[in-house]
Amino acid sequence: MLLQVEGLCKAFGGLRAVDDLSLVVSEGEILGLLGPNGSGKTTVFNLIAGALRADAGLVRLSGRDITRHPASIRTRLGIARTFQLVRPLPHLTALDNVLVAQLFGRGAGPLRPEARDASRRLLDLVGLGAKASVPGANLTLAERKRLEIARALATHPRVMLLDEPLGGLNATEVQTALALLRTIRADDVTLVIVEHNVPAVRSLCDRIIVLNSGRPIAEGKPDEALARPEVIEVYLGR
Ligand SMILES: Nc1ncnc2c1ncn2[C@@H]1O[C@H](COP(=O)(O)OP(=O)(O)O)[C@@H](O)[C@H]1O
Ligand SMILES: [Mg+2]
Repeated sequence: MLLQVEGLCKAFGGLRAVDDLSLVVSEGEILGLLGPNGSGKTTVFNLIAGALRADAGLVRLSGRDITRHPASIRTRLGIARTFQLVRPLPHLTALDNVLVAQLFGRGAGPLRPEARDASRRLLDLVGLGAKASVPGANLTLAERKRLEIARALATHPRVMLLDEPLGGLNATEVQTALALLRTIRADDVTLVIVEHNVPAVRSLCDRIIVLNSGRPIAEGKPDEALARPEVIEVYLGR
């Protein structure tokens, strides 16, 4: 068990965004986290990554309680995340965006001479090799999403939390992104993915959890969980 969440709660005022949520993520799997808008998916990521503090409950990484660890320490322990609204450093080149991320990751120390080569390899991996010297602000949405993934990978994560990585991409870009995510998993990075593209989720995920109002309403293999009446009613039937 790589990641474990137990009884996690987060309220905003009177709104229970995440309501007594428990889940586990196994090493090497691709877990999909689905649910309607406002069901708490991004909040779950914020609680796991440490951007928000839980009101109650535990987050464990390889059995270690990290619930009260700041985000920076969680990054060093191997949790990386990408954002629904991508935000590379706009004035830095694609290469420097990745280079900077290396400073914060697992086993990070001062940048070594080979760090630049490592960043180039990551840009190649995500298909941005030719854009290394382009400023973040001048990349297309699809390119910024791939840069975001390269930045996350630069921290040498054990688990990556991907928040709507396919949102806004065209059909060709989606296929490219799916191939990239499969490559990343093959490199022993566990993936948790929030995504509304249901066909993509079916083909990519080993297992999904569907949330509604901060609670799981279905869990299992994508085809099984998506066929559940509760899921059709609150999510697919919209
Ligand atoms: N920082 C915040 N302050 C107040 N309410 C928030 C905040 N973040 C999220 N919420 C609310 O919590 C609920 C869950 O939001 P979110 O986790 O972003 O859902 P999802 O990612 O599934 O669309 C929503 O009702 C949202 O409006
Ligand atoms: Mg969200």
